[in-house]
Amino acid sequence: MKLFSSVNDVPDVNALVKEALHLKQNPYAYKDLGENKTMALVFLNPSLRTRMSTQKAALNLGMNVMVLNMDKEGWALELRDNVIMNGTSVEHIREAAAVMGQYADIIGVRSFPGLKDRDEDYGEMIFNKFVEFCGVPVVSLESATRHPLQSLADLITIEELKTRSKPKVVLTWAPHIKPLPQAVPNSFAEWMCKADVDFTIAHPKGYELCTDFTQGAKITNNQDEALADADFIYVKNWSAYEPYGQIFPGNEDWMLTNERLKITNDAKVMHCLPVRRDLELSSEILDGKHSIVVHEAANRVWAAQAVLKRMLEANH
Ligand code: CP
Repeated sequence: MKLFSSVNDVPDVNALVKEALHLKQNPYAYKDLGENKTMALVFLNPSLRTRMSTQKAALNLGMNVMVLNMDKEGWALELRDNVIMNGTSVEHIREAAAVMGQYADIIGVRSFPGLKDRDEDYGEMIFNKFVEFCGVPVVSLESATRHPLQSLADLITIEELKTRSKPKVVLTWAPHIKPLPQAVPNSFAEWMCKADVDFTIAHPKGYELCTDFTQGAKITNNQDEALADADFIYVKNWSAYEPYGQIFPGNEDWMLTNERLKITNDAKVMHCLPVRRDLELSSEILDGKHSIVVHEAANRVWAAQAVLKRMLEANH
């Protein structure tokens, strides 16, 4: 594996999930694989879980790890070609990515969308330029349109905790006060559409996701209809795809409460975190028996470790 940016980079999703669960039981079994190899984690945006879990995964495989908070500590990057750099950008991504590739055997990149220009965000310009110019394998640490390490951890969690062979999984929109990217729901949808689950997406009118990610999913604007008999509920806010990056007033009643869970199959509630309590998801759920958000976050390590292991093996 030279690139991990979407579910399409994984030939056999079930095999990768099994491998991650094997690593969970045997965290240090491949400690020699990463000896004298270096992982660079490059963040253009904030992170807690992705940063710490991917670093932990690389250390478990015996790698050295370097973290660069590009947004705060790096030079301001120029992304466009054929421009005279007489503005605020100091270094072109062509040189920056190429130099990082001289120091690292694998690079992880986080680059959020601007949520202003849909074509620019969905063209994944920043992430793709790192891939083009760094010359080493690249892992997405969340790009403008996808968060594949999160989605792999989510699928691992569902596989671990399911109580029937084909669980009902619901992705439900949740309220928020500001426009958030579509990366997590896009990614979760495309992974669930490839998994052996019964998958439904519920959102208020206006929050339709790009259909490239939802092929095979049931989609409804009725949250209760979606929640009925659900085994897993994935809670997440996202802004509109059309008009791009917009949010609409109302829909506060989409926040999940214990009362709403009564119609589910004793559902487990997931969220990628960070979550705004009692805005996006109720405290009574987060603090109660239905929440598996911490278990889910813990599985980020095994998701990252399975992917890094594949990359190290392919380039051994
Ligand atoms: N879920 C997730 O990616 O968390 P961070 O943004 O803290 O990395």
